[in-house]
Amino acid sequence: MDRFNLAVIGATGAVGEIFLSILEERNFPLNKLRLCASERSLGKKIKFANEDHYIEPVTNELLSDCDFVFISASSEVSLDIAPRAAKLGSIAIDDSSAFRMNKTVPLVVPEVNSKDLDQHKGIVSIPNCSTTPLTMVLHELGKLAKINRVIVDTFQSVSGAGAGAVFELDSQNHAMYENSEIQTSIHPHRIAFNVIPQIDDFTESGYTNEEMKMINETKKILHRPDLNISATCVRVPVKIGHSEAVHIEFEQNIDIESAYSALSNAPGITLLDDTEKNHYPMPINCEHKDDVMVGRLRKDVSLPNGIVLWLSCDNLRKGAALNAIQIAESIIEKRLI
Ligand SMILES: NC(=O)c1ccc[n+]([C@@H]2O[C@H](COP(=O)([O-])OP(=O)(O)OC[C@H]3O[C@@H](n4cnc5c(N)ncnc54)[C@H](OP(=O)(O)O)[C@@H]3O)[C@@H](O)[C@H]2O)c1
Repeated sequence: MDRFNLAVIGATGAVGEIFLSILEERNFPLNKLRLCASERSLGKKIKFANEDHYIEPVTNELLSDCDFVFISASSEVSLDIAPRAAKLGSIAIDDSSAFRMNKTVPLVVPEVNSKDLDQHKGIVSIPNCSTTPLTMVLHELGKLAKINRVIVDTFQSVSGAGAGAVFELDSQNHAMYENSEIQTSIHPHRIAFNVIPQIDDFTESGYTNEEMKMINETKKILHRPDLNISATCVRVPVKIGHSEAVHIEFEQNIDIESAYSALSNAPGITLLDDTEKNHYPMPINCEHKDDVMVGRLRKDVSLPNGIVLWLSCDNLRKGAALNAIQIAESIIEKRLI
C-alpha cells in the first residue's frame, strides 16, 4: 500500500491534537509526519505513535516534501500556506473558512459530496463544525423528498472557538465558585453559567458571520443554491459537542418511519431516539464519538410537510479533524493524488 508524507499546521491546537489521535486510531497510511504551529511552539515535543516529533517552522522545503498538508490554524495562516502548498505539489486540506466559498475549491463532507473532490486543484476545504452534521442529515432526508426550507438553531460548545476558549470557560467556572474577578477575552461576554447568541461578528443583515457560514456552506455542499435556510448560532458553556434543533419543510409529506429508516441506514449517523427512556443525543454522549447523533425526531405540528429533529456531534472530530482525514482517505481511494 502507498504511504504518504503529511504535515499538520496547528498541531498544538484543539483540532490539531484530536487530528493526531484520529490519525493513529484509523491507522492512516503514513510515511512521514511533520508538525508545525506558531513561532511560540517551535521545538515543542509532541508524541505520536510512541515517537517524539518536534514543532518546526512551515518552510517551502516542508510543504514540497508532503503529499498532504492539513491546515488547522486560522484563515490568515491558511491564506498564506494553502496556495503555497498547492503550488509546491501537495494537497492542502484546510479547516479554516478562507477558501470555503471559493468556486474552484471543493467544500467537502465525504458522506455527502465526495464527488466534488474530483475537481480539486490542490486545495480542499472542510465546512464549519455546525454545517457538517447538518448537511449529513439534510442529504439523507433530501432523498425522500425535496427540502424547501430549513430553520436551524445551534448550541455550540466553547471548543469550537479553540483551546483558548476552553481555558476561558474553565477559568470563569473557577472564578464563579471562588467569587473572584471574571476575566473575559475570547467570548464577547461571560460564558460560564450563560449562553451567548453571538458567534463571530455581526454582518449588515443582522446575522452573524457564523450563521452566514452555515447558510452559504450548506447550499454549496448540497448543490442547492435555491434552498431557503435560516440559522441562529448560540454559544453554550459546554466543552465539547455542538447540538442543533433542526426544522425541515419538505415539498411533500414525509412519514416519520421513512425518515427513521433513511437516517438509520446513513453512513456516519447514529439514531439515539427513545423518549420513553429519555434517550436522545447530548454533548455528553457524542464527545469522542465519530458519528453524528440524531434524535427527538417528530412531525412538526405547525406545518403539514415538516419534521423536527435534534442532533449532537463532536465538533473536534466529525466537525473538524475526522472530516479532514476522511477527505484525505477519499482522495487516496479515488486516486486523485
Ligand atoms: N475547533 C473547532 O471545533 C473547529 C471546527 C472546524 C474548523 N475549525 C478551524 O480549525 C482551525 C483551528 O481551530 P482550533 O479550534 O484548533 O484553534 P486553536 O485551538 O486556537 O489552535 C490554533 C493552532 O494554530 C496554530 N497557529 C497559530 N498561528 C500560527 C501560525 N502563524 N503558523 C502556524 N500555526 C499557527 C497554533 O499554534 P500555537 O499553539 O503555537 O499557538 C495552534 O496550534 C481554525 O481555522 C478553525 O476555524 C475549528
